[in-house]
Amino acid sequence: MLTLNDKNLVHNFNSGPSVLPKEVFEQASQAILDFNNTGLSILEIGHRTALFQEVMDEAVLLMKELMKLDDEHEVLFLHGGATTQFFQVPMNLLNENETAAYLDCGTWGTKAIKEAKIFGNVDMVASSKDKNYTYIPKGYSIPSTSKYFHYTTNNTIEGTQMHAIPETKVPLVADMSSDILSTSMDFNRFSLIYAGAQKNIGAAGVNVVVIKKDILGKVNRKLPSMMDYQNHIENGSMLNTPPVFAVYVCMLTLRWLKQHGGISEIEKLNDAKAKLLYDTLDSLPIFRPTVAKEDRSKMNVVFVMDNPELEKEFLAECKANGMVGIKGHRSVGGFRASLYNALPFESVKALTDLMRDFATKNG
Ligand SMILES: Cc1ncc(COP(=O)(O)O)c(C=O)c1O
Repeated sequence: MLTLNDKNLVHNFNSGPSVLPKEVFEQASQAILDFNNTGLSILEIGHRTALFQEVMDEAVLLMKELMKLDDEHEVLFLHGGATTQFFQVPMNLLNENETAAYLDCGTWGTKAIKEAKIFGNVDMVASSKDKNYTYIPKGYSIPSTSKYFHYTTNNTIEGTQMHAIPETKVPLVADMSSDILSTSMDFNRFSLIYAGAQKNIGAAGVNVVVIKKDILGKVNRKLPSMMDYQNHIENGSMLNTPPVFAVYVCMLTLRWLKQHGGISEIEKLNDAKAKLLYDTLDSLPIFRPTVAKEDRSKMNVVFVMDNPELEKEFLAECKANGMVGIKGHRSVGGFRASLYNALPFESVKALTDLMRDFATKNG
């Protein structure tokens, strides 16, 4: 099992940008002062130098290794956040007269659907909007004529997570922004995966796109150079100046994950953290998790209290005990504890101890 930060006088439950390993902060700080004993800062080296090429190459290699990707899949580091992928995906994959299937299970999926409609037809195969996205729809079918099927693996705001890859012959496209690298799965089953880096991969300012090459080259529209995945593949994610420092922080975070046993090891820690928190919530009637049990997210744990005054008090207690980022998203209210890869078990222990004390005092 991992032992992580000892810097955690602060317990960082932020939903993203979020906690990163202490070693990464130390190494990144050092690289700002003197990158690999070159006398230069990472902030002042050219992106076309061998120095940076090594960083990019290692970052790509680590993603491939950690995700156990086959040779058909390419890894890109691009700009514009996951939000750019909402439109870059349909722009590259969907012709105007074609239809893509989308699952509507949260705020981010809804945004992806809106953007896809600009480029082609969207078949919304199921939605959990009827219950404020507190569950993952099941029992829907994906028409075999769909160009691809898009879904969000983990709904960061609402706290639901898909725990299995949907069975379909249609190419799979997933927004994995908030649970990538946290749990083992067969990533090779996806034709396209995208994720903003600022949760489990590294620093904000870059997003990772994994593409199965055979899905490209099938649209008839002209693509702006910066929007064309093929162009980025051919240019090794360096069509223009990449976010050098953000890519470097990703590389350090990926190295850290590999050194700590990769996805299968971090998954054990993530399971233990989520179990402790959900078990505590289930045992204390003062707190109420909002999500259907079988669809609970291991990354973003959302819960409320029925008394708004007590919610305020609990939030103040969290603050007084060095816990940050625990306030729920404005659209859901209550609380959200994000338990990303780099969050130490001790932080969840501290939170659950506080919950028990609070329930005893106020129950
Ligand atoms: C699941 C999901 N998709 C997309 C986004 C948007 O990411 P970005 O801000 O990098 O565009 C987020 C942001 O938190 C997210 O959690």
